[in-house]
Amino acid sequence: MGEKIFLMTMEGSNKEIIGTKDKHILDAMLAVGIDKAPKGCHGGGCGVCKIKIIKGEVTTLTQSRKFLSVEEEKDGHVLACRAFPLSDLEFEFIGKPKCKVNEKKKYGFV
Ligand code: FES
Repeated sequence: MGEKIFLMTMEGSNKEIIGTKDKHILDAMLAVGIDKAPKGCHGGGCGVCKIKIIKGEVTTLTQSRKFLSVEEEKDGHVLACRAFPLSDLEFEFIGKPKCKVNEKKKYGFV
């Protein structure tokens, strides 16, 4: 039996992103050439991969409160490297890290 495939789209891009429940959304983006967090940690530790889910369902691993506030989470924001699709998705890339200047430097934001 094949693995269930979900189709994801990002606002501003016409690329079709192929999702599976075992691959986090950031990896799925990279697989089709969307490299929005080139210096990101890919492990939930920097916040540069933040997205907002517009339509669809995701499941997430533990997300650091340092990079995702309660308000953001309630508003549908998730860290793409900690989130996995449970359905077809539409999302918007947000990507602003909430961290100190030296951390912003490290991840290429200043
Ligand atoms: S790439 Fe660092 S939190 Fe996702």
